[in-house]
Amino acid sequence: MQITTCVFDAYGTLFDVAAAARQAAAEPGFEALQNKWPELANHWRLKQLQYTWLRAVTDAHTDFWDVTQDGLDWALEATGLDGDAALRQRLLDLYWELQAYPEVPEMLAALKAGGLQTAILSNGSLPMLDGAVQSAGIGALLDDVLSVESVGVFKPHSRVYDLVQQRFGCARDEVLFVSSNGWDAAGASGYGFTTTWVNRAGEPVERLPWKPAQILTDLTTIPKIAGL
Ligand code: LAC
Repeated sequence: MQITTCVFDAYGTLFDVAAAARQAAAEPGFEALQNKWPELANHWRLKQLQYTWLRAVTDAHTDFWDVTQDGLDWALEATGLDGDAALRQRLLDLYWELQAYPEVPEMLAALKAGGLQTAILSNGSLPMLDGAVQSAGIGALLDDVLSVESVGVFKPHSRVYDLVQQRFGCARDEVLFVSSNGWDAAGASGYGFTTTWVNRAGEPVERLPWKPAQILTDLTTIPKIAGL
C-alpha cells in the first residue's frame, strides 16, 4: 500500500524532551542541576508517561499539562531538587519552547515537496503543541496538529489513532506513523498503521505483540521510507 499520510508523535520524536532540563542546567542560578539533569529528565519523562497510561486505564483523564507537572514534581523530589520554585517554573516554561531535532525541518519539507500529507498526533494539548510547533518554526510544513484532547483519553487508546482517519480519510495502512516511543509505535502497529520506531537511545524492542515495520536512529530517511 502506498503511503499518503505521515503522522508524527511529538514529544521525543519531533521535539527534544530532554532539552528543557539540559538548557536549564546551563543557566545561571540552576547550578544544582548541572550533574543531575540527565537523571531528572529521565525521571520526568518516565513519570509523565506512566501517569498517562494510569489515567487512561482508570478512566481519569486530565490534560497532558497536568501530568507533565505531576511528573516533574515527582522527579524533582526523587532527585532532591524539590523546594526550588524558580527551577520548577523555569523547567515548565522551557517545555513550551522545546527544540526540534535538527533533521526535522528538512525531513518535513521533503515530505511536503513529495505531495504527502503531514501531521502531529500527540498526547499534548493544542496550546502546548502550538507553542512547540511555533518555537521550532515547522507550522508551515504540517497539514494539521491532532491532540488527544478531542477524544479525552491518552495513547495508545485506539480512539486516538482513529483521529487520523477522521481527519484525512485515508486507510490505516496508507499512514506512516512515526514515534520515538516504543510502546506508541507498538500500539500504532497493532492498530494497523505502517509504523516506524525512532530508537534514538538504542533501547531494546518492547515486549509487546505488535512490532514496528522499521527501526531508525533518527528521522533523516523518513521520506525514503514513505516511498519518495
Ligand atoms: C506524545 C508523547 C507520547 O507526543 O510523546 O504523544
